[in-house]
Amino acid sequence: MEEKLKIGLLGLGVVGSGVPEILIAHQEKIRQVTGMDLVVEKAFVRDVEVESKKALAAEFDIQLTASIDEILDDPEISIVVELMGKIEPAKTYISQALAKGKHVVTANKDLLAQHGGELVALAQKHHCDLYYEASVAGGIPILRTIANSLAADDITNVLGIVNGTTNYMLTQMVTHAKSYQEALDEAQALGFAESDPTNDVDGIDAAYKMIILSQFAFGMNIGMEQVSVKGIRGLSLEDVTMAKQLGYEIKLIGASQKTGDSIHVEVSPMLVPNSHPLASVSNEFNAVFIESSGVGESMYYGPGAGAKPTATSVVSDLITIAKNIRLKTTGHMFNAYRHETHLTGDEEIFSKYYLSLEVPDERGQFLQLAEIMNQADVSFDQVVQQKSDGKTARVIVITHTTSKKKLDEVLTKINEKTSFSLENTMKVLGE
Ligand SMILES: NC(=O)c1ccc[n+]([C@@H]2O[C@H](COP(=O)([O-])OP(=O)(O)OC[C@H]3O[C@@H](n4cnc5c(N)ncnc54)[C@H](OP(=O)(O)O)[C@@H]3O)[C@@H](O)[C@H]2O)c1
Repeated sequence: MEEKLKIGLLGLGVVGSGVPEILIAHQEKIRQVTGMDLVVEKAFVRDVEVESKKALAAEFDIQLTASIDEILDDPEISIVVELMGKIEPAKTYISQALAKGKHVVTANKDLLAQHGGELVALAQKHHCDLYYEASVAGGIPILRTIANSLAADDITNVLGIVNGTTNYMLTQMVTHAKSYQEALDEAQALGFAESDPTNDVDGIDAAYKMIILSQFAFGMNIGMEQVSVKGIRGLSLEDVTMAKQLGYEIKLIGASQKTGDSIHVEVSPMLVPNSHPLASVSNEFNAVFIESSGVGESMYYGPGAGAKPTATSVVSDLITIAKNIRLKTTGHMFNAYRHETHLTGDEEIFSKYYLSLEVPDERGQFLQLAEIMNQADVSFDQVVQQKSDGKTARVIVITHTTSKKKLDEVLTKINEKTSFSLENTMKVLGE
């Protein structure tokens, strides 16, 4: 008879319901790999009388409870899996579980991005494991890959399409010429976007994931206030179409880039050249593209969400803990790499930029733009005048590589000294 490792599950929603299913489906393999039976003993839910939850509990022989203490005070439960989401009460329950010596698995990126340092310290204090592979890019095993497989490498750049909802919307806008609102309505109808899509479309969800990725790739802890965040809200079909004509896809990119000893982390829509591997990541799929000195360029691609991929990732964390328990090696950090945090100054953040402007359709306007760019030492790579209604023309500029500081000078002067309307500015990724 194998040893039983008993699990307390907090939340039986999309991902939570998938965990007992994966554990049962792969029971024999998990037993061989860990030498143990991993069993969900109890599940914490808001209401134990909900029929769907009762049916699930009966199917997988799980005891439902609406009392968190029944899990936290049960000495036989050695792992707590938090799949409720949001900050509270998840943070309190995880903290209490760790304080009682229970190992924890969670998929909660909001919590890890904002309070990860505190929770990791608490896990250390109580010699517990805390794993959260599913918090970034759902089914893609990216955190473990960075922490283990790339531990001997020097990562210089992490670029991620880490929000499936916005990537689905952008794909629909590009391939089917749908408006932002039509694409959002469709994403909601398909269940990709929540009824309040703020965190997705405003780039907040992607920023949480980039904070966690930056911690793994560079060992640096940064806060939300140190990430420059711009979402896709209001992105016009004109920009999407123009980008396509120029040979680019617009994607919501999370970028964490190291320059010397410092990093710059941002989330914003960017122009991705068609030849770049990230350009082909469409619909709800996620991908993380890494540049490092040893491996070079590598990309990790897959489903960023969904019950089965995410629950599979949660179960991989459970298996890691089971192995640690067996080998008596629990209490080590998921990612032990630590480096003092330094942020890159605007004068050292380099990129090509896309500018879209509405300018009066009169003589001399282009000269004015050229003078402003010249004064700031920013040069044109491409210029396109899109259309004219007789009064205004849309001018698209792609600059050569320049610093963010110089670009800001150009944007300030455009605002102060011209009657141009700056419609959009986006970074342009290199080939
Ligand atoms: N869905 C994905 O594909 C995915 C991918 C990666 C990571 N994640 C993360 O995984 C976690 C779970 O996501 P999900 O999609 O499974 O969410 P979900 O379907 O909304 O499930 C959350 C469950 O937790 C329960 N819950 C929430 N607050 C509770 C409370 N205070 N007391 C008791 N129960 C409570 C909810 O109960 P009610 O039904 O009664 O409200 C619900 O059953 C989140 O942190 C999410 O960010 C999800």
